[in-house]
Amino acid sequence: MTNRMKLIWLTLITLSLPLLFITASSTAQEGVTVGDLVQEEGWQLVRDNCTECHSSLIIVQNSGNREVWKSRIEWMQSSQGLGELGPELEGSILDYLTSNYGQKTASRRHALPTHLMPTTPNL
Ligand code: HEC
Repeated sequence: MTNRMKLIWLTLITLSLPLLFITASSTAQEGVTVGDLVQEEGWQLVRDNCTECHSSLIIVQNSGNREVWKSRIEWMQSSQGLGELGPELEGSILDYLTSNYGQKTASRRHALPTHLMPTTPNL
């Protein structure tokens, strides 16, 4: 190989290296659904322990007090193959879930007052 050829190869390789890294890191991001968890204290514990089998969406769509969340975890442990978390980890996860996805007082909005309702043409 002539020196000129070597130089061209070297330049090509050097220029394409950053591309390799960009491609590798964007592939690594694919399929990770953590964007919807509220990023308050302890969210990484939930990301790391609770999104292996299902999306975090199933978590953020749910709500409940500590007993409700504890019963969900116990249900997954007894029937879905979730392993023991240990008291400390489970406690931190429950803290996170109850403070960010706690019991809702009402899950339905009130009905609109009649004068704000849309009219129905054929009635
Ligand atoms: C070993 C697998 C596994 C892991 C790990 C796991 N889950 Fe689940 N979870 C499931 C399965 C399976 C379902 C049922 C999915 C469905 O209905 O489509 C489920 C359902 C749920 C539901 C919905 C329950 C309902 O009443 O509809 C919630 C909430 C939930 N998981 C929270 C969590 C939390 C919080 C963690 C972390 C502590 C976790 N999951 C970790 C397997 C798992």
